[in-house]
Amino acid sequence: MEKLAKLSYDGKSVEFPLVEGTENELGIDIKTLRAATNLITLDPGFKNTGSCQSAITFLNGEKGVLRYRGYDIEDLANNADFLEVAYLLIFGELPTQEQLDKFLVDIKEESFIDEDLKKILESFPSSAHPMGVLSSLTSALTAFNPKTVDIEDEEQLYRAIVRIMGKLPVLVAWVYRKKSGLPLKYGDYALGYVENIARMMFRKPNKEYVANHIVDQALNKLLILHAEHEQNCSTSTVRVVGSSHAGLFASVAAGISALWGPLHGGANQAVVEMLEDIRQDGGDINKYMKKAKDKSDPFRLMGFGHRVYKNFDPRARIIKKSANEVLEDLGIVDPVLDIAKKLEEAALSDPYFVERKLYPNVDFYSGIIYRAMGISTETFTVMFALGRLPGWIAQWREMRLNKEPIGRPRQIYVGKNQRPFVPLNKR
Ligand code: SDX
Repeated sequence: MEKLAKLSYDGKSVEFPLVEGTENELGIDIKTLRAATNLITLDPGFKNTGSCQSAITFLNGEKGVLRYRGYDIEDLANNADFLEVAYLLIFGELPTQEQLDKFLVDIKEESFIDEDLKKILESFPSSAHPMGVLSSLTSALTAFNPKTVDIEDEEQLYRAIVRIMGKLPVLVAWVYRKKSGLPLKYGDYALGYVENIARMMFRKPNKEYVANHIVDQALNKLLILHAEHEQNCSTSTVRVVGSSHAGLFASVAAGISALWGPLHGGANQAVVEMLEDIRQDGGDINKYMKKAKDKSDPFRLMGFGHRVYKNFDPRARIIKKSANEVLEDLGIVDPVLDIAKKLEEAALSDPYFVERKLYPNVDFYSGIIYRAMGISTETFTVMFALGRLPGWIAQWREMRLNKEPIGRPRQIYVGKNQRPFVPLNKR
């Protein structure tokens, strides 16, 4: 029996079908709302609005559950390789060894950048923020790969996917190296996907690169944890840009810009800057807890709170544990880790945070691990983008294969009513 929702207004009532997800979430299907009632809905920030039906990620914010294609994030983070997870997100199933081997080879074949693109990179000032550089270079890839993808042609779509999976890590490594004043180098064809990213980023020009297993493992886990998160701000951006049938590179470049904001992926940079400020200001946790709760103070506890999670972000738990392990294994003592733990402890017992269900999110501890790897604070969000790439690709592919309509929200106009033009000499 079809479940219905009834809308009553102005003495009339209209019924709309309910859509039920595979995890029993319910949504009101209002596709016919305006035609049937001449009404629209209003929902700034889309806090109550679903943009699509998706089979990629399941989130339960109340229980702190995150699953990629049905697999718990804890299982994937502790047992899988990032490229396996990328394949799972994009194509829907964990790959066989043969499929994974082919995916890696096809990606490696694309892991090079047109030399002319280096000139664009070199034209940026060294002070340029790495996210602005990465977004520009990703958009510039369209200039060197101009062919549009026929979405109906599976092989063409696959080629576009392995192309960006191959090229983005090179761009990320070069953006990092440019910021660090290092020469732009390629990796080693013989290495795995994540090992090669670490080599491209961290190899020094004056000595043989020696892989650090701890760093490789931590990087693999961080990339998996950042890989996908359903309809977040940057992924929604990738979907909306792609819905105009703009290409995959252009859509991902837009997603990188959306991720940059400090309320979204840019929070990992803002968290470490905040922790550093607190440390330099004497480490007075209570002073900053008060500022975070003071509405007249613009200060927010970065890395805390989430639109969906009203419980612990499962990724934050895993990253916090990994941060302890990585710093211990690398023999690093980072005072900001202790400040982070004290802030977390204080917030979790403070009524302001408890009432608003504000918990640490994915960005609260991740920067501490990146810092231990020697990655500069401004480059943290670039690492987030590298992890999120498979999620952006998976969502873009799903949206296009589902032939979803162009994203174009309505509005309620609150401006001036009609008025006559006033010539300049009469104003
Ligand atoms: C990511 O969407 C995703 O899935 C994103 C992400 C992903 O993987 O893609 O998970 C990655 O972006 C994580 C979030 C990183 N951002 C931050 O850490 C920035 C700090 N957090 C906040 O700015 C905020 O919590 C948001 C932006 C994350 C969520 O904002 P919402 O859902 O719009 O909630 P809100 O701003 O309306 O806050 C509700 C209340 C407000 O107080 P009241 O008006 O009810 O009194 O909580 C307060 C807010 O002032 N609040 C905070 C706070 N976050 C919310 N108060 C102090 N410090 C904070 N961090």
